[in-house]
Amino acid sequence: MCMKKIAVKDLKVGDKILRLDKSWFETSFFKHKFIVKDKSVIDRIMSSNIEFVYIDEVTPEEIKVSQILETPTKDIIDEAAEAASVNLIDIEDFSKASEVYTESVKMTKCVFEDIRAGKMFNNCAVKSIAANIAQITRRNKGVLASVTKLRQYDDYTFQHSMNVSIYSAGLASHLGMDSNEVERIACAGLLHDVGKMLVPKDILNKPGKLTDEEFSMMRNHVQYGYDFLRKEAVADDILRLAYEHHERYDGSGYPNRLRDKDISIEGKIGAVVDIYDAITSDRVYHKGMEPPSALKLMFKWADSYINKKVFEFFIMNIGIYPVGTLVLMNTHELGIVGKTNINKPTEPLVLVFMNKKGRRLPVKVVDLSIKTVVKRKILAPINPESVSVPDEVYSYIDNLNKIT
Ligand SMILES: [Fe+2]
Repeated sequence: MCMKKIAVKDLKVGDKILRLDKSWFETSFFKHKFIVKDKSVIDRIMSSNIEFVYIDEVTPEEIKVSQILETPTKDIIDEAAEAASVNLIDIEDFSKASEVYTESVKMTKCVFEDIRAGKMFNNCAVKSIAANIAQITRRNKGVLASVTKLRQYDDYTFQHSMNVSIYSAGLASHLGMDSNEVERIACAGLLHDVGKMLVPKDILNKPGKLTDEEFSMMRNHVQYGYDFLRKEAVADDILRLAYEHHERYDGSGYPNRLRDKDISIEGKIGAVVDIYDAITSDRVYHKGMEPPSALKLMFKWADSYINKKVFEFFIMNIGIYPVGTLVLMNTHELGIVGKTNINKPTEPLVLVFMNKKGRRLPVKVVDLSIKTVVKRKILAPINPESVSVPDEVYSYIDNLNKIT
């Protein structure tokens, strides 16, 4: 909150007055902190011989955030469907993104292990990873999100940091933040759990349940991270995501039990993407949830643990696949979405027609919502210009969607 002194003649309806320039005894106003509801309030202030007032200056960032949070849900979902057909991925882009991903996870590991060993903090490496993420996100919002689940590394913390960085950058970009802000949030995402490097390793990697004492030590990672980044003179907006990603909408989070209105946009983004990646990742001791189940579960938490609007924009970032979308599968096969599944939008019916070597296959209908030995998942929508889709696939689609 920023206080600004203005002349009463410049007051507008909607302004939030924090203080009048007269003492309480000199005015007829019972409260000196209020919102200007209509013109008559301004007239009353003027007739009280008050020349100046102090108002809460709303920053451009706050205006942007309040606009985002007021967007109707339907518009967001419509835009998601539209974005899915625009945000197509070229196969070459996909390979490039998976290379960048693998390299960046390795770099993150080095930076974090140096911190654990008490060596110098390699901020340059962090900035360079964040710049790469922001640049790829600028070109295509979805391509990096499609590589986050491509392979699971032994050490969860580094891949999780990378994933939070990628999802945060994608979400920030969907929220209309400029490229500079996207890069900064990518940086913040990468560093959000840096404090875990200062938590004893046996607690950090303990499989199974933590004792109460271990749990509270684990929670300290937020404060450790904040203190560490402060010491390294990291900027405030980057600190916010690290410091607030465990705060919750209803005030049940930590370390400061902040409520939604007091959590920054960076903190709100951090909470959504951190939870999503944590519950969808495979760990040594348990299998991660599939995206549709994770999203369904998170819907229940909307406006209790997480901010609903930010979450809806996140769904948009994850993507919905309309009928006819050419998709790349985790088996590296290519297919076309034949029929959507309303209850499980990321598990439609797919007509697989090409194997990973680019060889044509007899068309195979795969229902992604049905459990099979080979678990197929969609990694990303693919640009159809470079692939020739056999006509028979389209006749299949027509049959599948025929209204009887
Ligand atoms: Fe965390």
